[in-house]
Amino acid sequence: MSFDAIDVIITKRDGGELSDAQIDWVVDAYTRGEVADEQMSALAMAILLNGMSRREIARWTAAMVASGTRMDWSMLDRPTTDKHSTGGVGDKITLPLAPLVAACGAYVPQLSGRGLGHTGGTLDKLESIPGWRASLSADEMLAVLREAGAVVCAAGEGLAPADRKLYALRDVTGTVESIPLIASSIMSKKIAEGTGALVLDVKVGSGAFMKDVASAQELATTMVELGEDAGVRTVALLTAMDRPLGRAVGNALEVAEAVEVLAGGGPEDVVELTVRLAREMLAAAGVDGRDPADALKDGSAMDAWRRMIRAQGGDPDAPLPRAAETMDVTCPADGVLTRLDAYAVGVAAWRLGAGRARKEDPVAHAAGVTLHAKPGDRVRKGQALLTLHTDEPERFDRALAALEGAYEIGDAPDPGLLPLVIDRVTA
Ligand code: URA
Repeated sequence: MSFDAIDVIITKRDGGELSDAQIDWVVDAYTRGEVADEQMSALAMAILLNGMSRREIARWTAAMVASGTRMDWSMLDRPTTDKHSTGGVGDKITLPLAPLVAACGAYVPQLSGRGLGHTGGTLDKLESIPGWRASLSADEMLAVLREAGAVVCAAGEGLAPADRKLYALRDVTGTVESIPLIASSIMSKKIAEGTGALVLDVKVGSGAFMKDVASAQELATTMVELGEDAGVRTVALLTAMDRPLGRAVGNALEVAEAVEVLAGGGPEDVVELTVRLAREMLAAAGVDGRDPADALKDGSAMDAWRRMIRAQGGDPDAPLPRAAETMDVTCPADGVLTRLDAYAVGVAAWRLGAGRARKEDPVAHAAGVTLHAKPGDRVRKGQALLTLHTDEPERFDRALAALEGAYEIGDAPDPGLLPLVIDRVTA
């Protein structure tokens, strides 16, 4: 059935609901180039302003999945499970989590992304390991899964091409911040990836898409419903992103921290969230085996990590890149660190070279920020609070500007600090 793009836009502009047939047509026609970018951007803006019903979001998601191939892992002898984070500052959890869950008895076939703006991307982080390759064919993905139990790689061109095109358009038309469009974008890729179970880590706070708990709950509920409707067992956790996660922000710095976690150490918040998400992933997949906390302690998660990195061409023993220059930011007073703003630290790392402004830009693997104190910690005047890392010292000034007003020292911990895990959302 064919429609007129203008009628579809006007229906949504005037607050109406799109029919299933209209949605199937417009997503397909846009992917084929029959609906023009300017028409799709008008429709995306109408969706951002007027929203979508649950039926419309489910149909829109299904149409984006149908625009490409859906991967199938039914040949594997164990269940598949995956995690998706909506993105934050210092969020390196996938790195220890994927091999950890593999070590506990499930397969993790993860298609991941690159960073844009102040949030980092898992592929950029892993690419700081010498030799590691993000682009794999479907056959190579299967071989890595069989070898290591987990694979983290880039989504191929054939996976949800409608989302690939629409996301690039939303990025330049002010239409990213729409719950129906974010939920359908994320879930179309995860459904097409073919995972049997999915745990969503929906970040809340200044460093996240969702700045408040209510909107994060709405996004989480929408995504959980979309997953369940598509036959994927889906659970969501809402987690804190008002301060950075862990003590390292920036690609190679975060890989080093992930390796510490796999070695049985690492920052408390990264360990706690990794173990919590691993338990959720295993439960969602129906795997009732070893406890992830034990697999971190006995080295089996580290063994799976080393197999996974090697199977993708990387050398897990190679030294990680180190920045040519560092600068400390010192603490202005004695007291307690009450606030360390995630967004500001993310922007500082980005300005030091860890992130990119445009999709095609390279990232500086060694650049970033290390934290010597976290909110709630006692600090002393003159101690290093942060260390900035870069290969280009002329970047320090703009990074320091991003950090102005980003931290506060008080007498006692701020009771308004979000708990690490704020809520759990199920169908
Ligand atoms: N990540 C996605 O993949 N899509 C969005 O719309 C937002 C974040």
